[in-house]
Amino acid sequence: MTQVRNSTSAVEQYANLIPMSEIASNADQLFPFPIFNSLRQNTPVRYDEARSCWDVFRYEDVHYILKNPKLFSSERGSGTLQGSILTMDPPRHTKMRNLVNKAFTPKAVKDLKNKIEEVTLYLLDQVKEKGTMDLVHSLAGPLPVIIIAELLGVPAKDRDLFKTYSDVLVAGAKDNSNEAFQRMAQKRKEGSEFLKEYFKKIILERKVNPEEDLISLLLAAKIDGEKLTEEEVLSFCVLLLVAGNETTTNLITNAVRYMTEDKNIQEQARTNLPLIPKLVEEALRFYPPIQAIGRVTKEQVKVGGKTIQKGEQVICWVASANRDEQKFTEPNRFTLERKLNPHLSFGFGIHFCLGAPLARLEAEVALLTLLSTFAKLEGVKGTELEAIPSPFVFGVKRLPLKF
Ligand code: HEM
Repeated sequence: MTQVRNSTSAVEQYANLIPMSEIASNADQLFPFPIFNSLRQNTPVRYDEARSCWDVFRYEDVHYILKNPKLFSSERGSGTLQGSILTMDPPRHTKMRNLVNKAFTPKAVKDLKNKIEEVTLYLLDQVKEKGTMDLVHSLAGPLPVIIIAELLGVPAKDRDLFKTYSDVLVAGAKDNSNEAFQRMAQKRKEGSEFLKEYFKKIILERKVNPEEDLISLLLAAKIDGEKLTEEEVLSFCVLLLVAGNETTTNLITNAVRYMTEDKNIQEQARTNLPLIPKLVEEALRFYPPIQAIGRVTKEQVKVGGKTIQKGEQVICWVASANRDEQKFTEPNRFTLERKLNPHLSFGFGIHFCLGAPLARLEAEVALLTLLSTFAKLEGVKGTELEAIPSPFVFGVKRLPLKF
């Protein structure tokens, strides 16, 4: 029988949450790529009975699905993100996207650069003298939360409270068991209820006294004379927390994890800091924070020669597509020399990640500051990394570092 676990995480409500049976151990979760390589060669498009969904492993097929929202829907049945932009199809998605785009411009992101630098320096100052830190706890976790709070206009006095509940929203399951996932789902539900109530209050305040923040902009923005409802502004705020925090945390952590695994790359970046944006792109391709994206077929379709009936769940394995030898030369090599890097880690097409410029900027600032503050970044010998047990998120729970 199919087990369907309820969860409020953006990425985890695409399909039921059971991990693929092929990727079960911690070691495989930490490095699933050989398994993806073999699945891509042997069963590029396949139906998995245990999870009741289709898996798609090749770049060309994943790209085709993401590019065709007419055939592959993003709408989901339930969950916190129901009614959010991520789970909408056109024409509603197009309207909503145009609207939030106005408030979430590259310029708004660029204006945050100083703040990102300031917060990164502050966070590293707390651990600088210690010689060791857990990167997730000390930098990669707090940085995105603090920046989103800033973007949304959360008053400084509420930041701690806000972080506590945001952490609950993105906390992973303790292990791979069904019970652990149920407990995680319950905690996330409570966290999201709290944040919704919290944002409701801020929305009411901003309606009366607008400020220069994203919430005020969203409340004021209009398309064809139509404003967003309070409920829509609310679900957008929660989406930003869910979709933007854990992902950016994992981008920073995965990039630093790679640098501890490959001293050569660390050295190349350290001696040529302008290469950092390339390092971030290659880390996105190589260790993608979201390894899979889900869709539901809107009619009978053919993918990679297989016929898929209407209403089926399709999981697009970005982590596999990003290493497809048909698309990338030497896909299993991490290199700062790629001229083009069309990875799919931020998705593709109409749902392409709205937060990509912000995530890239935060990662670039974090890596630049780490490399210029510490003469070396090393993993701690004897500590085995623990993968986040999720079929959709790719990351580690902690990254102990010596510097
Ligand atoms: C959409 C990944 C950071 C906001 C997406 C999608 C992916 C993604 C794969 C497309 C999902 C789909 O097609 O169903 C990532 C990664 C991030 C990141 C890997 C960090 C490295 C952020 C941040 C924010 C954000 C920082 C906001 C502050 C969004 C929003 C959407 C989205 C609003 C929905 C766009 C739409 O449906 O039109 N993200 N994201 N993301 N992301 Fe991100």
